[in-house]
Amino acid sequence: MKPEIQLAVFASGNGSNAQNLITFFEGSRIKIALILSENPNARVLQRATLFQVPSVIFSMSELQNGQVLQQLKGYGINYIVLAGFLKLIPASMVQSYQQRIINIHPALLPKFGGKGMYGSNVHKAVFNAHETETGITIHYVNEYYDKGAIILQKQVALTPDDTPESIAAKISELEMKYFPESILQTIEKHNS
Ligand code: GRF
Repeated sequence: MKPEIQLAVFASGNGSNAQNLITFFEGSRIKIALILSENPNARVLQRATLFQVPSVIFSMSELQNGQVLQQLKGYGINYIVLAGFLKLIPASMVQSYQQRIINIHPALLPKFGGKGMYGSNVHKAVFNAHETETGITIHYVNEYYDKGAIILQKQVALTPDDTPESIAAKISELEMKYFPESILQTIEKHNS
């Protein structure tokens, strides 16, 4: 049997994507081995406990001085997934995990990306721009916010009746449907 592939998920808040990944990969060769957050109050940490996934709360200095990277190595992490993680990944981590850090962004990059463009900020900006469509972007992570090579984009149509809340619901539906599958395909491509 091929060895297990260990994934770490970084999340700053709610964690619906993290939970979806845990349940999607349950019983497979790919394992969500660790949940990490810089936010001690993040709901994702409760979800980790509920699903018996080990979790780590770290400070920004631990992220930047390499301690978090050491922990990832200690857990034998092969891939990193960012699912609603709001901080920049340091260059040393990007270099250690070249093409093995995957982020999801709730818009069609390069539109509505960059610093400050997260969560409801994105949906409000899409709404205010009167876009006729939006979507999700799954991409590799490099040293810059939302700038790594795109793996997959999925679109959804918007109507004049849409609100920032209804846009958020449409995006969440796309994320639940496509994010786990896209991670699976990316990892299988690397390991085939
Ligand atoms: C998602 O929309 C994700 O695309 C974005 O932040 C949101 C996180 O939601 N980067 P959740 O914490 O997974 O519920």
